[in-house]
Amino acid sequence: MTMPLWRLDDAEALAWLASLDTAAAEAVITDPPYSSGGMLRSDRTNTTRKKYARNDSRTAGDDFHGDNRDARSWAYWMTLWLSEAARVVKPGGICALFTDWRQLPAATDALQAGGWVWRGVVPWIKPDARHQRGRYAQAAEFLVWGTNGPRPIVGDTLPGYYIARAPRAAENGPNKRQHLTQKPLDVVRSIVQIVEPGGLVIDPFAGAGTTLLAAAMEGRRAWGCENHAGHAAKARTRIAQALSQSVLL
Ligand SMILES: C[S@@+](CC[C@H](N)C(=O)[O-])C[C@H]1O[C@@H](n2cnc3c(N)ncnc32)[C@H](O)[C@@H]1O
Repeated sequence: MTMPLWRLDDAEALAWLASLDTAAAEAVITDPPYSSGGMLRSDRTNTTRKKYARNDSRTAGDDFHGDNRDARSWAYWMTLWLSEAARVVKPGGICALFTDWRQLPAATDALQAGGWVWRGVVPWIKPDARHQRGRYAQAAEFLVWGTNGPRPIVGDTLPGYYIARAPRAAENGPNKRQHLTQKPLDVVRSIVQIVEPGGLVIDPFAGAGTTLLAAAMEGRRAWGCENHAGHAAKARTRIAQALSQSVLL
C-alpha cells in the first residue's frame, strides 16, 4: 500500500486497528485515555476537562470520551487493542504508550497480556507539576514500552528519561496546547527515533496528532486515528501547518 507521509483517519481505535494489514507497521507509539484522575469512582467518572484541565488550559480543547473505565475494565480494554496492535506491528517492532502513576501497574500488565515483551518504563518528568503540602509531587508520567518478540540490536541509543514542561495554550508554534492531554512535541520527536527513518509509526489515539507530527518531522511515516471528529480536524490542521513551516523549526 502506498500512503502519504502522514494520514489521520476519523475512526474508533479497535475497529481501525482490525482494518490494518498484518505486520504493516514498525511501531505503535501512542497515548491512550488514562481513565485516571482520582482516587474515587466519582473522580474518575468526571469529564476529562474537570480531571485534567489546569492553569492555562481552559482554552486547550474539548472533552474526550473513553476515559471513565475502572481499573479492571481499562486493563481488559487495553489488552484488546494491544493484542490487535501486536498483529499490525512487525515482529521485533515497538510498542510505546504513555500512562500515569495510577495506571502504571495495569499498563505494564496489559502490555504483556497483549502479547508484547515488556522492556521498560521511561519517565517524562514535568518540572512545572503541581506541588502539594505534605505529599510528594506527582511530577512524572511514564512511557511504557515493549517489543513484539525479540528485537535485533539496531539504531542509535535513546534517552532513559525526559524532562519537559507540558505544552501550554499560551505558547506559539506547533507545540501550542490544543488538547487537554497533549504531549510535548520535542519529547515525542525523540521517542519516535526508535523507528528507522522511513518506518511506519501508527497511533490509534491521535488526539492533537503529536505522534504523527513528530514522526513526520523526523522522517518516519505516520498513520493514526482519532474518534473525536473535532480533535481529528484540529490535529490535521496542526500537522499540515507545522510541516509546511517545518523548514523554520
Ligand atoms: C490522551 S489523548 C492523546 C493525546 C495526544 N497524545 C496528543 O499529544 O495530542 C487520547 C485521545 O484518544 C481519543 N480516543 C479515546 N478513545 C478512543 C477510541 N476508542 N478510538 C479512537 N480514539 C479514541 C480521545 O478522543 C483523545 O483525543
